[in-house]
Amino acid sequence: MAEYVTLRHAGREFRLPLVEGSEGEKAIDISKLRQETGLITLDPGYANTGSCRSVITFVEGERGILRYRGIPVEQLAERSTFKETAYLLINGVLPTQKELTRFSVLLNDHSLVHEDMKIFYQNFPRSSHPMGILSAMVNALRSFYPELQNLEEEINITVTRLLSKVRTMAAMSYKISRGHTVVYPRQDLTYCANFLNMMFDSPVRPYELDPDVVKALNVFLILHADHEQNCSTAAVRVVGSARVNLYAAVSAGIAALWGPLHGGANQAVIEMLNDIAGKKNLGQAVARAKDKKDPYRLMGFGHRVYKTYDPRARIMKRMVHILLEKLHLSDPLLDVALELEEIARKDDYFIEHHLYPNVDFYSGIALRAIGIPSNMFTVMFAIGRLPGWIAQWKESMDDPDWKLCRPRQIYVGPGERPYSPIEER
Ligand code: CMC
Repeated sequence: MAEYVTLRHAGREFRLPLVEGSEGEKAIDISKLRQETGLITLDPGYANTGSCRSVITFVEGERGILRYRGIPVEQLAERSTFKETAYLLINGVLPTQKELTRFSVLLNDHSLVHEDMKIFYQNFPRSSHPMGILSAMVNALRSFYPELQNLEEEINITVTRLLSKVRTMAAMSYKISRGHTVVYPRQDLTYCANFLNMMFDSPVRPYELDPDVVKALNVFLILHADHEQNCSTAAVRVVGSARVNLYAAVSAGIAALWGPLHGGANQAVIEMLNDIAGKKNLGQAVARAKDKKDPYRLMGFGHRVYKTYDPRARIMKRMVHILLEKLHLSDPLLDVALELEEIARKDDYFIEHHLYPNVDFYSGIALRAIGIPSNMFTVMFAIGRLPGWIAQWKESMDDPDWKLCRPRQIYVGPGERPYSPIEER
C-alpha cells in the first residue's frame, strides 16, 4: 500500500508520497512540491537529498556496508579482478568467461592513444598536476574520436575506449612528466599488469611484473570502483544531464575528484603523514584537527556517509600489511598512520563526531609500495572510479525520470535597485 507524508502549510495539507528502496531506505518524493505548494527545499551540500533511483551501488554508512550490484566489496576485493568488477558495474552482472574474453579483446583493441595526443602532453608545463592534465585530455578525446552514427555502438565503443585509454593516458602523462620514452600497451598483459608495465618499463631496465603487486593494484582499483552519488559522480550526472558526451561528463568528474576533500585526500594524507613524521608530534596534529579556529583536519578521516569504519579502509589496511610483507618493505609512514589512528580512535572528539579512517587513509601507503609517485595518487583513484562514473552516466541516460539537473536557490541578495552611472559611484 502506498504511504504518504503529510505536510501542513498555510492552513492546507499536502500528501507527499513515500518512496522505499530495496534495502528499506525511505525518502519523501518532493518532485511535485513546488508545483503543488509553491515551496522548495533547502539542503546545502545535498546531505539529505536523493537525486535519483539507482540499481548500481548500495552504501550503508551506519553499518559500513558497500555492495556493487548487490555483491559485497569484500568478496570482490578477495576474488574478482578490476576488469571483471568494471564489467559488473557497467553491465549489471558478472561476465561469463566468453563475455570476459570479449571484453578483454575490446579493451586491447582500444588501448592505444592517438599519436597526436602526445603533442598535447608534451606542451603542458612540467609542473602541471596530472589530474589537471587527465581532465583536459579526457575532454579532448571527443575531438580525436568523433561521435559514431549508431547510438548503441557509440555507447559501447566510447565506454570501452575510455576504460582502456584512460589507463594508457595516465601512464603516458607520468612518462612524459619524467622526460622518458612512452611505453605502449601490450596485448599479452592483463589490465593492471599492462598499466604497471606502461608506468615502469624502460629501455634500460625492463620491468619485472610481480603478481603480488598486480593483485594489490586490482584490489586498490576495485575498492575505488564506485561509491554511489559522491561529489565526482554527482558532477558526472549533473554535467551529463545536459546531454553532453561521455568524455566531457567524465572530465568534469575528474576535476571534482581532484579536490582534497574528495579523491585528492589520498595525496593530502601522505603529505600530512610526512609532515607529522618530520615534526614527530602526533598529539599536535590531533589537537589542531580538533581546534575549531584552525582549518586543519586529519586527512583520510571522516566521511559524509560512513559513520563507522569505512569498509574500504579496513580492506586497504589489511592489504597494505600483506603487500609490505610480501615485498619485504617497511614504510615509516605506516607506523605514523597506525599510531595516529590509535590516538584518534581513543579521542572523545573523534568518537563523538564518528570520525574513522576512510579509504584514503591507507591507500597512499599501498601506492607508495607499488612505486606510484604521490602526485599520481588521485589519478589512480580516477582510473578506479571510471567504471562507476560510466555506469552511473549510462543509468542516467536510460532513466525514465531523467531531467536536466537544475537546482533552485533561496535568493538573499539586495532587492531591486537602479543602475548608477560610473561618475555617481
Ligand atoms: N578532522 C577533524 N574534524 C573533522 C574531520 C576531520 N577529518 N572531518 C569532519 N570533521 C568534523 C567537522 O569539523 C565537523 O565538526 P563540528 O560538527 O563540531 O563543526 C564535523 O566533523 C562534521 O564535518 P563536516 O565537514 O560537516 O562533515 P561532512 O560530511 O561534510 O564531511 C568530509 C565529510 C570527508 C569532507 C570530512 O570528513 C573531511 O574533510 N575529511 C578529511 C578529507 C578526507 O579525508 N576526504 C576523503 C573522503 S573519502 C574519499 C571520497 O570518497 O571522497
